[in-house]
Amino acid sequence: MSFPVQGSAAVVSPERRAEILAAPGFGKHFTDHMAIATWTKGAGWHDAAVVPYGPLQLDPAAAVLHYAQEVFEGMKVYRHADGSVWSFRPEANAARLARSARRLALPEVPEQMFLEAVTSLVRADEAWVPSGGESSLYLRPFMVATEAFLGVRSAHEVKFLVIASPAGSYFTGGVKPVSIWLSQDYTRAAFGGTGSAKCGGNYAASLAAQDEAHEHGCDQVCFLDATERRYVEELGGMNLFFVHDDGTIVTPELTGTILEGITRASILELAEDLGHEVSERRVSIDEWREGVASGRITEVFACGTAAVVTPVGKLVSRDGELVHGTGGPGEVTATIRRQLLDVQYGRAQDPHGWMTRLV
Ligand code: PLP
Ligand code: COI
Repeated sequence: MSFPVQGSAAVVSPERRAEILAAPGFGKHFTDHMAIATWTKGAGWHDAAVVPYGPLQLDPAAAVLHYAQEVFEGMKVYRHADGSVWSFRPEANAARLARSARRLALPEVPEQMFLEAVTSLVRADEAWVPSGGESSLYLRPFMVATEAFLGVRSAHEVKFLVIASPAGSYFTGGVKPVSIWLSQDYTRAAFGGTGSAKCGGNYAASLAAQDEAHEHGCDQVCFLDATERRYVEELGGMNLFFVHDDGTIVTPELTGTILEGITRASILELAEDLGHEVSERRVSIDEWREGVASGRITEVFACGTAAVVTPVGKLVSRDGELVHGTGGPGEVTATIRRQLLDVQYGRAQDPHGWMTRLV
C-alpha cells in the first residue's frame, strides 16, 4: 500500500526549522507531514496518504477516548555523515506493533505497509532529519480506535498514523547517570495483562509511580513483578542491564510482563559480539542491592530507543539510597553505547543488517 503525499503543508520556514533542529529537545516539535491510513471492518486498510501535520477530527464518542484501545511504536532515523538517512531495525518495530495490536484487539498493519508509511513520511520531511551529535528524527507510529460507539467491544474503525519529531537527548542532563526510584506500591504489569504490548494504557498506569519518582528527586521509576514484588522488571520507558565483575551481562528475562525492547535485543547481540557472556534471567531486587554493595555488579544501565544507553547512578527507595559507581558511565556501558551509536550513525560496520536506507 503506498502513501502518496496529498495537500500542501503550511511548511515551517527554513530559518525556524534550523532553530528547532539546533536544540530539538525530545517530543516537542513535529515535522510538516504525517502518514495516515484508515481501517474499517470488512474493507480493511484504505485511504493511505502522507498529509499535512495537524489535529485529528475525532468524534467525542471515539472508542480510544473511553476504552484506550491504542498501541504505538517508537523508532529513530539517523543522518549519516554522507547525508543519507537510515532507520534502525524498522521490521522489528513493525513486528512489535503487530503483536501489540493483536493483544489490544486492533487490526494488524502489514510489515510492508508499515515500512511504506515510515519511508514516505521520512522522504517528505527529509529536511527535518537533524545532523550532528546524537540527534535523530524520532518516529511515533500509532493506531487508535476511532469508531464512535460506547459499547465495549473491539472497534470497527481504526486509524494508523506516523508522526515525526526531531530529537536531541531524552534526558536533559545528557549522558550523565540517571537516578531510579523503586516503586514498591505500584506495579506495571501482571501475567496475562498487557505488559509486553506497547499500549498507551501501560504508560497511563505508570504515571503515578513516575510522579512519585520525581517527588523523590529521581529521573525514572523501576517496577518489580506484580506477583512477588521481588523481581526487577523494567523502568517506565526503558529496559535494564546489569554488568557483573566477571564480564557477564544480565538482563531480566521476558516473561510476558516486560516490553520486548529492540534496543535490549540489539545489546544482547552486540555484547556477545564484544565477547561478553550474556544471560536473560530473573534478577531480584536483593541481588541488585547486594551485587552493587559487594562489587559483584559493577555497572547498571538502562536502554531504549529514546534514551539509547544510559548509566544508572543510584537506586532510591523507602529503604534508602544505593549509589552506583563513581558518577560517570562505566567502561562496559560506555563501550556498548558507543558501539550501538556507531552502527546507527554509520560509523561502524553493520554485521547484523540492522540499518535500512530511506533517503
Ligand atoms: N520498556 C518500556 C516500558 C518502553 O517504553 C521502552 C521504549 O520503547 C523500552 C522498554 C525500550 O524499548 P525499545 O528499545 O524498543 O525502544
Ligand atoms: C521509546 O524509547 O521509544 C519510548 O517509547 C519511551 C518513551 C518515550 C515512551
